[in-house]
Amino acid sequence: MSDRDITLLSIESSCDETAAAVVKNGREVLSDIISSQISTHQTYGGVVPEIASRMHTEAIVSCVRTALSEAGISAAGLDGVAVTGGPGLVGALLVGVSFAKAFAFANDLPLVNVHHIDGHISANYIEDPLLAPPFLCLVASGGHSHLVLVKDYGVYEILGQTRDDAAGEAFDKVARALGLGYPGGPAIDRAAAGGDPDAYRFPQAKIEGASYDFSFSGLKSTVLNLLNQSRMTGEEIRIPDVAASFQRAVVDVLEEHLLRAAEETGVGVLSIAGGVASNSCLRERLRTSCASRGLRFICPKPVLCTDNAAMIGAAGYYAYLRGVRADWSLNAEPNLPLGSRERRYHAR
Ligand code: KG4
Ligand code: ZN
Repeated sequence: MSDRDITLLSIESSCDETAAAVVKNGREVLSDIISSQISTHQTYGGVVPEIASRMHTEAIVSCVRTALSEAGISAAGLDGVAVTGGPGLVGALLVGVSFAKAFAFANDLPLVNVHHIDGHISANYIEDPLLAPPFLCLVASGGHSHLVLVKDYGVYEILGQTRDDAAGEAFDKVARALGLGYPGGPAIDRAAAGGDPDAYRFPQAKIEGASYDFSFSGLKSTVLNLLNQSRMTGEEIRIPDVAASFQRAVVDVLEEHLLRAAEETGVGVLSIAGGVASNSCLRERLRTSCASRGLRFICPKPVLCTDNAAMIGAAGYYAYLRGVRADWSLNAEPNLPLGSRERRYHAR
């Protein structure tokens, strides 16, 4: 903790949301502006990287202006700028990184490079202002599925990760095959509400041994095969039933891994992060199973689970305190691994 307040402007542009926020001491969100491009990408059935970059360019100035004015702060009242440096779409990341560098340079502010997944995990600090490591976090987004032991602020041990598709990617691909559109996760969540999760028995991906790794491509292929077969035979299928059964299979495996990790590590505080963490079935299931086991469960509001800049401000604060600083050579890193070595300098 710092003995004085630290207020950061934070910027996120790794995929299809342009976002800017002002966050005090990593926990208090003074403003949180998100300009979503989803309606544009829906036309194409997925994110078109070139369009995403152009739209970030169009939106970023007004997002930052609004974030500052809603927080009632000017650049002079800030202590630094935190920005997602990776991973993500390179052209999309570059817009946020370039803007953050220019803003920090022009206003003589330190620049903090934040890993996107560090951001997702740190959304939990906003949800629960008393949360402190160690805790377990299940990160499930469009690009990542990680089971992480948070040992300290920004210090992560990856217990397991996906060996193929990310959980959100599986939701998106299955939704597309079902004709539910993009983004697939919310569409399947809605469709599943009217379906029977017992209608189909889809396989739960089991990895040899007691691994915490995930695999979702087999499950996805089983659903796609079922749809192809029904098209060929003319057999009618109920989309809500397929959606509910698929969702159940994903939630089963995510829940099993997280609860097993709690049991084996003895860590009694569990949390979730990333777009898939806004899934209503996953949230409900974990609420119930954690309550019955006496585990503490932190469940960030859906808007803190999908991409936003407040979470980057939370992660950026702890990185700032650790002395993490980027210089003007900062570049977007589309494949930045979680836990890669930080560049630390003495605070400027
Ligand atoms: O974290 P996020 O906003 O962006 C990435 O970092 O990827 O996650 C987006 C992913 C998409 O795959 C989307 O379909 C999924 O999160 N998602 C959901 C739900 N809302 C978003 N998946 C399941 N249920 C939801 N309600
Ligand atoms: Zn994300």
